[in-house]
Amino acid sequence: MRRYMICFILSAIVALSSSPVFAASSVFEVNHDFYPYYPSLIKWNKSNAGFTDPAVCAGCHPRQYEEWTGSVHALAFQDPIYQGELNKGFKAVGHEITRQCEGCHSSAAVVMGEIKGPGLTGLSPLALAGVSCDICHSISGVTHWQTPSHEPENGSFILTPGVDTQNGLTLIKRGPYKPSEGCGGGFHECTESPLHLQADLCASCHQVYHYDSHFPIEATYLEWKHGPYAQKEIMCQDCHMVDIETFKRAADSFQKPTRQEYHHYFNGANYLLYYLAKSAAEKAGDKELAASLEQKYEMAIERLKSAADLEIFPVYRNNRLTDVKVRVKNIRAGHNLPTSLTNVRQMWLEVTMRDEKGNVILTSGQLDEKGNLMPDTRRFNSDGMGRDFHFAIDPWIVTSFSRHDTIPPRGYKDVYYGVMPMKNNKRILIEAKLRYRQASQEEAETLLAAVPADINLEAIYGLKKVPALPIVDMVEKKMFINITQR
Ligand code: HEC
Ligand code: HEC
Ligand code: HEC
Ligand code: HEC
Ligand code: HEC
Repeated sequence: MRRYMICFILSAIVALSSSPVFAASSVFEVNHDFYPYYPSLIKWNKSNAGFTDPAVCAGCHPRQYEEWTGSVHALAFQDPIYQGELNKGFKAVGHEITRQCEGCHSSAAVVMGEIKGPGLTGLSPLALAGVSCDICHSISGVTHWQTPSHEPENGSFILTPGVDTQNGLTLIKRGPYKPSEGCGGGFHECTESPLHLQADLCASCHQVYHYDSHFPIEATYLEWKHGPYAQKEIMCQDCHMVDIETFKRAADSFQKPTRQEYHHYFNGANYLLYYLAKSAAEKAGDKELAASLEQKYEMAIERLKSAADLEIFPVYRNNRLTDVKVRVKNIRAGHNLPTSLTNVRQMWLEVTMRDEKGNVILTSGQLDEKGNLMPDTRRFNSDGMGRDFHFAIDPWIVTSFSRHDTIPPRGYKDVYYGVMPMKNNKRILIEAKLRYRQASQEEAETLLAAVPADINLEAIYGLKKVPALPIVDMVEKKMFINITQR
């Protein structure tokens, strides 16, 4: 018994001391000296100049601070869905690998060595602030083409918050303008940065690769780059750093917003996170923040509703209606629809056909009593697959997709629904809805159940159990169709 015990301890020591389990690959060679925080590819131009808490920037830039507060970037580290997944990853593969996640969800705290795993306890306001002011405005360059995949991935940017000088240190903030007289108010110097007007600024974090196989699990930047918006120089900023009306104008007419129209909203599709954060703000008695989160929530829903369109066409064969074709169009997303976590997000068609008496003759895309999608539902997303070619969801397991069915920018997908021959009917009614939610009910419950012990969902968010996830109806269309072609 004792001998077994010693054997067990010895093998445990060997397992623990052997450095991270990255498989050597000649396809994706890794230069570990160049990338000291691997598998995060962030780099830090080290000096005595540290990173600044956003509350300090707020003193001189109150507008930007207010817009950013409550944004998905501000919540990127505290997000309970993220913390739940991080905790699962931490337990499954360890911190050597989850550092990759932290590199994008709270970069400064990774280079400063502050974050050592999931949870919020004992962390500085800067670490908790996620993708904060001093991440973006300290980015001095990118290493997109030196990465193992030779594409932007896993935080491939360089952070230079400042430099050492003879009289101590100087903070340098990079932005869209030529430095004006007194720029920085004595607190920082300013540098004009063309990178800040390019999608490349966002690319490093919006291309998420598997930590070892370098498979692009989230590919928003490359979807954009190989699409019509990049060709017309409509950047991420032009749709995500403006209000909804300006975004629609940029998307429809390829017209760039004016400099005054930019705001620090970083609004996307994640209405669920605003909803959770709003509950937390209400619980904490912060009415102002709750109101701002309500606005951000409405904005995300409005964005989703303006992203897509549906068209319905009859298909006749030998004069008889045999199919109904539903065309799903991505009209305003600058990348595929949906994008990013395509193996988690759900977008699907719900279709109902009725005869003249109102009897249902076909349904597709309904939810079952547990809130899950029926197996034959036409979904527009992807399925992840692990090394064993089995279905997988977690980002440390997914090394390829077995199905990838998102809609490219300005593109469409057609779906056919068969119609049985019918007597005594001149026409049928078809109703089609394009529906969206952040995740399946099951996945949301799994992730929220996995949050680290120091995040008490009931105390912070007032959540006793996970409610039915809200679903957004992006587009709804109805049409009567004749059974015979005239
Ligand atoms: C290259 C940067 C990057 C890396 C590395 C990264 N993420 Fe993310 N993560 C993102 C971005 C960008 C999004 C937002 C995408 C979206 O909204 O669909 C995101 C979204 C998420 C979400 C969804 C949050 C929500 O509220 O729906 C979870 C969960 C998550 N990440 C967990 C992880 C975990 C765990 C890891 C490490 C295994 C990781 N991420 C690594 C950039 C990254
Ligand atoms: C995700 C990256 C990102 C984050 C986070 C971010 N910014 Fe910016 N910021 C930008 C970009 C990009 C621009 C240029 C926008 C444009 O085209 O005018 C900008 C512009 C600015 C400007 C120039 C004036 C203006 O508004 O256009 C100031 C000042 C500024 N940011 C301050 C801040 C402060 C303060 C915070 C934190 C509260 C912050 N930023 C957070 C990316 C970021
Ligand atoms: C003491 C006041 C003060 C503080 C604190 C301050 N700034 Fe500024 N900053 C200014 C002034 C003044 C300008 C000139 C333009 C303006 O008025 O917005 C400026 C300009 C900028 C610009 C535009 C630079 C350009 O060339 O386009 C950015 C970006 C910026 N600040 C980011 C930050 C960030 C990030 C922080 C926190 C780390 C911060 N600032 C803290 C006063 C300050
Ligand atoms: C340091 C890494 C980083 C950089 C740089 C960055 N992002 Fe993000 N971004 C994230 C992470 C991480 C999330 C997701 C956080 C979460 O869901 O918990 C996110 C979320 C978002 C969202 C919200 C997505 C949703 O589901 O609602 C938008 C929009 C966005 N980013 C746009 C941008 C734009 C535009 C830029 C460039 C100006 C940019 N980001 C630069 C890391 C980054
Ligand atoms: C032409 C406008 C447009 C451009 C350009 C654009 N987006 Fe989007 N983006 C949208 C719309 C609309 C949505 C909501 C529908 C969706 O989720 O795809 C969205 C959603 C997102 C989301 C949320 C995805 C999720 O799962 O919640 C992220 C993250 C994002 N965009 C990042 C980016 C980045 C990074 C770029 C630049 C590489 C970019 N976007 C360029 C319009 C745009």
